[in-house]
Amino acid sequence: LTHHEPLNALLRRMPKAELHIHIEGSLEPELIFRLAQRNGVALKYESVEALRAAYAFKDLQSFLDIYYAGASVLLKEEDFFDMAWAYFERAAADNIVHAELFFDPQTHTERGVPFETVIRGLHHACQRAHQELGISSRLILCFLRHLSEEDAFRTLEQALPWRQYFIGVGLDSSERGHPPSKFERVFARCRDLGLHIVAHAGEEGPPEYIEEALDLLKVERIDHGVRCVEKPELVQRLVRERMPLTVCPLSNVKLRVFDRLSDHNLAALLEQGLVATVNSDDPAYFGGYLNQNFIELFEALPQLGAREAYQLALNSFEASFVERAAKDAWK
Ligand code: HPA
Ligand code: ZN
Repeated sequence: LTHHEPLNALLRRMPKAELHIHIEGSLEPELIFRLAQRNGVALKYESVEALRAAYAFKDLQSFLDIYYAGASVLLKEEDFFDMAWAYFERAAADNIVHAELFFDPQTHTERGVPFETVIRGLHHACQRAHQELGISSRLILCFLRHLSEEDAFRTLEQALPWRQYFIGVGLDSSERGHPPSKFERVFARCRDLGLHIVAHAGEEGPPEYIEEALDLLKVERIDHGVRCVEKPELVQRLVRERMPLTVCPLSNVKLRVFDRLSDHNLAALLEQGLVATVNSDDPAYFGGYLNQNFIELFEALPQLGAREAYQLALNSFEASFVERAAKDAWK
């Protein structure tokens, strides 16, 4: 372990961007209980410990069931603010200087929480993170792929008065059986609106879903994408197009995409020239925030050293949607 100390210090201290974080997945059990009490919401679990004990997942769906249940305590604008502010405090501790946050409006509007409540609370936290922590951030609206395309269109309509509050759209929730092609029309509309486009693909789903995300949705990043290695010609294409993958190591182990961190393919992805990044996905559920992901991954994969640390930090800024002018200012 000792020889990892300087490397761990580098991983902790290096400035980095986080590009794959579901803000609802940063809701810690303690805050779930505090908000439940504040809002008079009944929980199925007796205590913080009982809730945390339920965080044993066998796949993506078993996680999503408990993740949506956790989000049920979010009712008021200040609840969304408190959740995002808690994330930004953790992000500052990890030397994250830029974050692009996913949010799932349908998880809330389905329960009768207005879109406006969600976006105002999150936006306020983003503003305060910039003022008080020096963290720049942007919001990305994710459509839930287990719902219909019509529902996604309705959500986009509700979001349009708030168009200046988010920079892009993504696609998340249950992947298998809900291919990107199901959302081709709504993403075309989003492109016309000038929104950035990303999608989860190739986490549990096959490499063909990654190809659909590229060809039909015209994504600018692939979220996860780790199953691309099953199709060498797809890997070559991703390298050629410098298409970023937002990889989430601890998530992949918790949701059994890989049995162990030492089986993870991130080092192989970098080795092949892919623009891979490291991210936390749903840190409250998967056992760690961004630096924890870096440290555990580097401990598990001996091929990863200082060179790869710098490469991953660099990739996170290249893959970000920070405006070109701001990127040039960093050079
Ligand atoms: N995959 C799909 N949907 C999600 C995830 C994920 O890892 N996290 C939150 N929603
Ligand atoms: Zn995700």
